[in-house]
Amino acid sequence: MCGIVGCITKESTLEFLIDGLKELEYRGYDSAGLVILEANNSHIYKAIGKIVNLENKVGDFKTSGFSVGIAHTRWATHGKPTEINAHPHSGEISYIVHNGIIENYADIKKELGEEKFVSQTDTETIVHLFEHNLSIYENSLKAFEATIEALEGAYAILLITKSQNDTIYFAKKGSPLILGYSDNKDLFFASSESPLIGKAKEVSYLEDGDYGYISPKTVKIYNQKESKTLSKTKLPSNKQFAQKDGFRFFMEKELYEQSLVSSDTMIGRVKDDYIAFDEIDIALLEGIKEIKICACGTSYHAGLVASYLLQRVAKIRCSVEIASEFRYKEPLLSKDMLFVTISQSGETADTIEALKIAKLAGLKSLCICNVDNSTLIRLSDTSILTRAGIEKGVASTKAFTTQVIVLWMLSLYLAKHKNNISTDELKKHIKALLHTPRVLKVKSTTHEKLTRLSKRYLHGHGFFFIGRDIFYPLALEGALKLKELSYIHAEGYPSGEMKHGPIALADSELFTVALMSKNILYDKIKSNLEELIARDATTLAISPYKFDLSDDFIQIEEHDHEMLEFFEMLVIVQLFSMEIAVRLGNDVDMPRNLAKSVTVE
Ligand code: G6P
Repeated sequence: MCGIVGCITKESTLEFLIDGLKELEYRGYDSAGLVILEANNSHIYKAIGKIVNLENKVGDFKTSGFSVGIAHTRWATHGKPTEINAHPHSGEISYIVHNGIIENYADIKKELGEEKFVSQTDTETIVHLFEHNLSIYENSLKAFEATIEALEGAYAILLITKSQNDTIYFAKKGSPLILGYSDNKDLFFASSESPLIGKAKEVSYLEDGDYGYISPKTVKIYNQKESKTLSKTKLPSNKQFAQKDGFRFFMEKELYEQSLVSSDTMIGRVKDDYIAFDEIDIALLEGIKEIKICACGTSYHAGLVASYLLQRVAKIRCSVEIASEFRYKEPLLSKDMLFVTISQSGETADTIEALKIAKLAGLKSLCICNVDNSTLIRLSDTSILTRAGIEKGVASTKAFTTQVIVLWMLSLYLAKHKNNISTDELKKHIKALLHTPRVLKVKSTTHEKLTRLSKRYLHGHGFFFIGRDIFYPLALEGALKLKELSYIHAEGYPSGEMKHGPIALADSELFTVALMSKNILYDKIKSNLEELIARDATTLAISPYKFDLSDDFIQIEEHDHEMLEFFEMLVIVQLFSMEIAVRLGNDVDMPRNLAKSVTVE
């Protein structure tokens, strides 16, 4: 993944680079670096860890007029997060930042001679290859063209060179890159819109295969060696600042926001006895007999919930796949399948590539996404925005909630469209939908109880989250939250499967969180939990019914709809994971080794 920014400005290059990197920190925060060219003087700074460390390194340095700069925040793929491996990577006169992965880097490295390499990264090959090509062609554009032609993999690249010190060369294939234009002719690059808001008035979203260069005098874009003109789109001038608003962490704030944003997700869409999606043109559904969902991480878990709802409520066949698996399994696709992607960011590389495969096979596509104008939205036939607002915490909370709400609504919408639901049944769902924001409200007593309880779950040899039906994907999501935040091993399991192997792990140091729905298979999961208790596992039961056999117990309300139980339990597992992480002293908003947006495969 990683994030890159670059600019040519009359006076504010350093400021743009640092502020821009802060906006992109969600894409990776192992290390960061920048380089600025003022005439033929280069100023390069790198630091391990977050952008604030880079800012401290830069110290009092200031640019004093026209300058050109590029910068990078890294999520390590090749080589450890060290200063040497941090971008920009340098040749003798050139510097590069890169988001993506160069798959044939080892071959290129061998050809160029390994002795000139200082880092373990794939990126460093690009800058040496460029300088090698420059010595052959003696023309920067030709050298750059030859360089990107030789690269296999995914990239968004910015390159500057002292041989042309007022210019930035760029190329995009598979990783996002946006070019921004200001009123006073400053030019900017960024991996996403946020660094550009307030700086650029208009933007161009580069497409795969685009490359070229920008200088104060010109913007030159090519694709397949043909010159091309970019279309420009207006960018809003006000940044929607995400603030912690008195909460300790963004994650905590976002968790508390779930009640509010779930209402936003429903506005204009939930009617008395039907669901309206103005976004969906009925032609999209013509001839559709089956749904294929592709997503990654938490969004995949939302997809799994949908597979239960779409089959049970809408009576439509549905399969869900992890995008990185789907890509390489030579999937059998047919045109009566609607291809649905789910993504918070809209920039997840594997999900984007999965969509491209489906499009090539002629499938119609629908994207459920939180970020307007993102790559997935631009590539999909239709999109439904989840309206969760900016999500800063790397561990997703409100984005998941709104995804599940959209998918629940979509199931009801399709059920009605296919005449597969009675009016009474539909009304029952709608009543529950409208009650969801109340269920998602965090109760202070529950939060306090979980804070106290968390101290008993800091050790042990691992966690199981168990549930059945829609509570199985919730178990997966609970386990993922705990892993991400606490670094404790956790697994989500369908509770009926425990006896087929995992129960062998049961002893007092195995912690099990049981999601016991009143509405779905209560007696079954109760027996599954009792089997674990009989083997001395330490258990936490979450249920509307009192359950005396477990070590710990959290009581939820008695809801008459399983989705309401689902959302109340979701808040509990999110709070539980967060409080364990707090006790362990972990970084809640930016857990180690993770990134908010994964733009590499
Ligand atoms: C990363 C994030 C996860 C997210 C996943 C998919 O791993 O840390 O929170 O679920 O990517 O991202 P997407 O933006 O496609 O939902």
